[in-house]
Order: sequence, then structure tokens, then C-alpha cells
Amino acid sequence: MSASGLSDPRARLVVLISGSGSNLQAILDACAAGVLPAQVVAVVSNKEGVLGLARARAAGVPALVLPPAGFKAQAGDRCAYDAALANLVADFAPDWVVLAGWMRLLTMPFLGRFPGRVVNLHPAQPGAFPGVHAIERAYRACQAGEISETGVMVHLVPDEGVDDGPVLAWERVPIQPDDTLDDLVARVHAVEHRLLPEVLRWLIAGEIQVPLAG
Ligand code: GRF
Repeated sequence: MSASGLSDPRARLVVLISGSGSNLQAILDACAAGVLPAQVVAVVSNKEGVLGLARARAAGVPALVLPPAGFKAQAGDRCAYDAALANLVADFAPDWVVLAGWMRLLTMPFLGRFPGRVVNLHPAQPGAFPGVHAIERAYRACQAGEISETGVMVHLVPDEGVDDGPVLAWERVPIQPDDTLDDLVARVHAVEHRLLPEVLRWLIAGEIQVPLAG
């Protein structure tokens, strides 16, 4: 049963995006196929015109944009933005908030509203390459002889740590000697598209203990 108590028994997901939304698509496809007992009840982007918004609309999901620009004039604009974002998301009564390519740091005025229920995807191993361009940085590190594999991690976001927080699952992704960057990007994305819906299924089924769930 959904924590929201609404009549549809499927878990309610709000997915936050900033770009192409290929991971959103993987979630939508898993929901449509019935392998993920969930419904995406809203998609929110911080950027106008991104492909992920079109993917949401094509699936009949409300696709909303909250640009940060309107908050710039206010003191503490990041917190004001995050409080407004939290209000927007809360209106959809999510069981889980999924950051799927959401490229903006979130502060406690957002995270404190959904304790233990914000899930992030990071295209690297736990503790590795936090922040942007993680796949490219892993590729360069491999070229420099520093690493021979990267990974994909799905984790909870309890606080303002960057790509940090209790790990729900992660997988190794090998880097082959003759890989181009595009090869590696494709390999990492293929793992992401499988792992993220899988972890959401485990969470919904209660197969992963979530220490912060309130
Ligand atoms: C993914 O690689 C995700 O891990 C990273 O940004 C990318 C988003 O891709 N944070 P998409 O928008 O899901 O296609």
C-alpha cells in the first residue's frame, strides 16, 4: 500500500530531472511493464525544454518546471528555491523522490521534508568522483593508469553531502583499454537503466532496510 493512503496501491514516485531523462524513461518503462509496482506521479525539472520533460508528457505524467532564476533576487535563494521545490513535490504525496540526473545540490529545506525517501543515482562507485562529469573523470583517470573500472551507485540522500549517503546498491563497470568515452558512457548508462528501477523495486517491496525512513 502506498504511504500516501490514496486508492491506487502502487507506490508514488516523483522524479527530479535536469536533462535527457533516459533514467526516467527506464523507470517509466519498468512501471508500464509491471515489473516496478509504482507510478510516476510527477516529473520536475529545474530546466526548461529538456528531453526528459517530453518523455514524461509522452507517458501522460505531469511534467513541471521550476527554474531557479526566479529565486535569485532573494537572500538565501538556494534555500528558498528548495522550500518551493519541496512544496511542489509534496503536493504529489510521493512515497519516494528519485533524483535521476538532477544536477543541482539540494539543501535541508528540501531534504528535511522527505527524510529517508530521497534516492539518488550517481554514475561512479561509492566515494568516487562526486559531482559533475563523473563518467568522464573516471575515463581520464583510467587513461592515466589510476583505475581500471568505475561503477554505478544508488544511495539515499539524508543531507547536503554531494553524491554521498547510505548506499542502497552499487555495481562495478569495467573500463576496457580500447574504450572511447562514448563506449564507457553507454556502458555506464546501460547499468544505470537496469539498476535504478531494480533498487526502487527492492525499496518498495521492503527488501532494503532504510534506516532514516520516517
Ligand atoms: C546519469 O548518468 C546520472 O547518473 C547522472 O546524470 C545522468 C543523467 O542521465 N547524474 P539521464 O538524464 O537520465 O539520461
